[in-house]
Amino acid sequence: MSGFQSPRGLRDLLEPLASAHGWATDRAWAAADAAGYARIELPIAEESALFERAVGGTSDIVSKELYRLEPRGDDAVTLALRPEATAGAVRAYIQHGMRSQPQPVRLATVAQLFRYDRPQKGRYRQFTQFDIEAIGDSGPGIDLEVIELGAAYLRDLGLTDVQVHLNSVGCTTCRPAYVETLRAHFTPVVQELSEVDQSRLATNPLRLLDSKEPATVKRAASAPAITDHLCADCTAHHASVTAGLATIGVAVVPAPRLVRGLDYYTRTAWEYLLPGEQGQQGALGGGGRYDGLVELLGGTPTPGIGFAIGIDRVVLALEARGLLPTAAAGPAIVVAGIEPESVAERVAIAGQLRAAGVSARADVSTRKIGKQLEGAVRDGALAVIIVEPDGHLTLRDLVKASQAEPAERGGVIAAALQLVKNEG
Ligand code: HAM
Repeated sequence: MSGFQSPRGLRDLLEPLASAHGWATDRAWAAADAAGYARIELPIAEESALFERAVGGTSDIVSKELYRLEPRGDDAVTLALRPEATAGAVRAYIQHGMRSQPQPVRLATVAQLFRYDRPQKGRYRQFTQFDIEAIGDSGPGIDLEVIELGAAYLRDLGLTDVQVHLNSVGCTTCRPAYVETLRAHFTPVVQELSEVDQSRLATNPLRLLDSKEPATVKRAASAPAITDHLCADCTAHHASVTAGLATIGVAVVPAPRLVRGLDYYTRTAWEYLLPGEQGQQGALGGGGRYDGLVELLGGTPTPGIGFAIGIDRVVLALEARGLLPTAAAGPAIVVAGIEPESVAERVAIAGQLRAAGVSARADVSTRKIGKQLEGAVRDGALAVIIVEPDGHLTLRDLVKASQAEPAERGGVIAAALQLVKNEG
């Protein structure tokens, strides 16, 4: 046995989880297609400077969790495995001149991401997100469209109790004054804060609202709410989004202390949460507006909004609720044989069945026919085709436990296809 294990936080997905991931991913693409979001596949690594600028140099994601790759050969650029998809999507929007298309440009992707974090249930170093971005529209209508799309995706998977925790994090006009109010609120207790939170107080006080440190959590409970400090435009936008979500029937929980761990957000910010889940596991996804990001990355000032839903957490939630879809079924037909020499013939017949649209596998072993039949039953096959020594085929119905007389190949294959149609 090999002494190798999968690296910490990087998992093998076995059945039924592998099928569940595939299923949730297929449903994500289908939800995006149905809403007119164009698919985009982004590279798995980008210049690390892209993430530093977009997500923010002081964010945990960049300062602690980025996997940087050593430059190779003539290439002096440091790349990083992507920790999120928004920066890459906005980079692509600028690079491919998508501003000349009708706005907003609606993009969707399902992406594998990497963050160096302490692994625990629901938090992995490699994980998958369903990511939606709508770039080029500043009105509250697109906020409603995007928030509803994520909520409907989760609901349609069976997570019907999902809640949208909604906040506005303001804009460059109103946020600086709020940040100072927040700093003033925490400064009297600075000595009680952890070292990390003392440095957050100095560099980015908003992050304190997201801290898990007991002293900070205690003080944050009485912190002023940003929604009381928004400028007139942000207040109007937030009111419009809140009212619109009520009209659509999306369950919203006002969350005036919700801040997100990425620096690019402005105005609308939200999370999809499952009530009653432990720790991070209930945080299925999150998103927000990023009205300054296109410009920050070198493009013409253009607003944007999007969300990402963690597929790994969705699958965990489905599992906890007994809602996992059944794993892919075994083959409907197994092609067995009496003589070892018939192996090639068995493989050919199985291929012919698959070409006709029925799942099938050959038993390629030289085992006795009884063992081959046992294997077919274990696989849950509906029927077995047995290649007889004289080349005739026998069709055995495993569901009805009946067997036809040996016959010519064409007739038996037609009968097998009919059997799967009737019983499959
Ligand atoms: P985020 O909140 O960093 O946002 O991640 C969104 C979701 O990805 C989380 O709610 C969680 O379900 C999942 N997730 C994050 N980290 C992990 C992990 N280590 N293991 C498993 N799942 C994880 C973003 O990434 C933004 N780019 C979302 C966005 C798109 N904002 C605008 N557009």
